[in-house]
Amino acid sequence: MIPIARPQMGEDEKQRVWEAMASGSLAQGPRVAELEEQFAAFIGVGHAVATSSGTTALHLALLGLGVGEGDEVVTVPFTFIASANSILFTGARPVFVDVDERDFTMAVDQLEAAITPRTQAIMPVSLYGQPADLVAIGDIAQRHGLAIVEDAAQAHGAAIGERKSGSWGAGTFSFYPTKNMTTGEGGMITTDDGELAERVRLLREHGMKVRYHHDIVGYNFRMTDLAAAIGLAQLPKLPGFNDRRRAIAARYDAELRGVVTPAVRPGVRHVYHQYTIRVRDRDAFADRLKERGVGSAIYYPIPVHRQKPFVALGYGDQRYPVTDRLTAEVLSIPVHPSLSDDEVATVIGAVNETAAELGSLEAATAR
Ligand SMILES: Cc1ncc(COP(=O)(O)O)c(C=O)c1O
Repeated sequence: MIPIARPQMGEDEKQRVWEAMASGSLAQGPRVAELEEQFAAFIGVGHAVATSSGTTALHLALLGLGVGEGDEVVTVPFTFIASANSILFTGARPVFVDVDERDFTMAVDQLEAAITPRTQAIMPVSLYGQPADLVAIGDIAQRHGLAIVEDAAQAHGAAIGERKSGSWGAGTFSFYPTKNMTTGEGGMITTDDGELAERVRLLREHGMKVRYHHDIVGYNFRMTDLAAAIGLAQLPKLPGFNDRRRAIAARYDAELRGVVTPAVRPGVRHVYHQYTIRVRDRDAFADRLKERGVGSAIYYPIPVHRQKPFVALGYGDQRYPVTDRLTAEVLSIPVHPSLSDDEVATVIGAVNETAAELGSLEAATAR
């Protein structure tokens, strides 16, 4: 079976983790600081603050911006639940805007209608490795005096023109094992705002600049040096990983038939955390792919506003028609950098044969 993800762990990772273990620096230490410096340089921002996960990065970024009780943050319902949960953690209320059918990111033409006097921030999600339309969102944010927290958990190295995801306002990343680079578990906040970086550092460590002198109520959201050691081995390989993902995606774009392939906006560098097609009869499609030896996954089968905790909060009756349709049609197929050319050909054959059996999505839409 060709798996949907395959983390790349090599000798460099082993060596660096072993060095960290042998040094005795196991919790946050010099390797975390080194990874922060290198990641900030990679994204092209002044500051990067490492955290224990992508979820805690989102949570801290919002707290650092002063988001809390009584505030609203605008985000999308077509995402992993952590985006919206991080808003709830602060006491603020998520306000959802539907996504664009073509690129799966925030529908910018619907954004302004969701902004109220309570809105403090906009949280676009750069889903599957394609940056949200941050140029347009940045303009709207500026006009309304709002902060941006880009959920770039899936977009390491993605860019609009030369400007990378994570360099608008605050960006947050995840280093979960399936991501374009990993630290096991881990996250990162990136920003050019020195004061925000300072606040999130304080919040990350129990509000403590001087040992056991606590200025504010904070958290333990630190990354370990063991995790950072893995990250230091992965980061130099990230551009190569992304190039391979993009090359595989280009073959899929050219050779897949009978399914809707993902659209990329002009001038955008998509890094294909996922290659997500839209298919007819999605569950049967996934079963047939499996029979043909190809793993696949659904990101995400239930939109956030229909998840139980959000239904309990009263979001269940809200309507996001594009999100609802996409959750019924999307299917991600393997695009990880370790796929061989033969495996890529197997995936293409399996998708095309299955689409021929089940009918193309265009045919389904036309009915
Ligand atoms: C869009 C999105 N946001 C947030 C997260 C949360 O990251 P983590 O799993 O590292 O907490 C993820 C990771 O799965 C994600 O895909």
